[in-house]
Amino acid sequence: MLKKNINIRIIFAFIFILLSFFQVNAQGWDIPADKKAKNSYIKFDSNTAKEGEAIYTKNCKSCHGDIGKGNGIKTLNPIPPDLASETSQKLTDGELIYILNVGRNAMPNFKNTLSEEERWKVISYIRSFNKQYVQVLSKTDPTKSKLVKVDFNFNAATNKVNVSVKANETSGVVVLKDAEIMLFVNRYFGKLQIDKTLRTDMDGNAVFSFPKDLPGDKLGNLELVIKVNDEIYGEIESIKKLQIGKPTDKPSLTEKRAIWNVLKLAPWWIIITYTSMVLIVGLFLLLIVRNLFKIKKLGEKV
Ligand code: HEC
Repeated sequence: MLKKNINIRIIFAFIFILLSFFQVNAQGWDIPADKKAKNSYIKFDSNTAKEGEAIYTKNCKSCHGDIGKGNGIKTLNPIPPDLASETSQKLTDGELIYILNVGRNAMPNFKNTLSEEERWKVISYIRSFNKQYVQVLSKTDPTKSKLVKVDFNFNAATNKVNVSVKANETSGVVVLKDAEIMLFVNRYFGKLQIDKTLRTDMDGNAVFSFPKDLPGDKLGNLELVIKVNDEIYGEIESIKKLQIGKPTDKPSLTEKRAIWNVLKLAPWWIIITYTSMVLIVGLFLLLIVRNLFKIKKLGEKV
């Protein structure tokens, strides 16, 4: 009996240590080095802080409370930090926008609800609570991303995707050197990264190794996505369909009867079970009503 108790205690202690380990792990934000160094292309001033305040009030205050007052909602775990706190202010601008982009636990991500400009303006407002903060401005000019042209093609002999990135400036064509560049293939449930994240060379080119036999659609079409991240030109995305996958004649996920499909294409077992349940319950109700009438009649006789 005693031995059993000790064993249970050891198990509980082990679970406790494991849980506290996760708790500690949950505190730091594990942010990639290149994201940390990202800076805003918008100069933070009292106007951007004011616009940021309006965005904050609408999107953040319900959880984080008033900045500097420490009145965030206490029922969440972890409690949303006061963004004037030293730990939050120690985060770089790149880390702050990364947190807004990805979210964590109860903290939602704002990548799709706020534009990049709005996200920087909220950060401008958060920074207005830090007197020691000195902004490092990014060299990115977001209006320039429209000038960029991404060309790419597949070389079947070498199994490589060759990409070239150029900008059509009024002064002439400029190649984008040393820009971060990634290749993805669109899949059912998101993007699949192909090869590593590369940087363009001195001529604005990059070469990705492409896997053989990647399943495409019936004709072997794959949708390739190139993402470029340049210090000056900002983020650029280019999408192109190429016939370089393995032709695969797989029916679409919504072509056949399946539980995730529309009512018309629900599996037979669901339709039969559901219909018979409704019928049985209906009959049962009818039976009750009939018996109630019977009781009423019996009562009238007496
Ligand atoms: C639904 C509640 C909720 C909303 C809305 C919300 N947050 Fe958060 N936020 C949290 C929680 C909870 C955390 C802590 C998450 C964690 O550490 O896992 C957090 C963490 C953060 C952090 C990291 C701070 C640090 O010191 O680690 C920042 C920065 C932040 N939020 C900014 C914002 C901004 C800006 C907005 C509005 C655009 C916002 N949050 C909206 C709940 C929220």
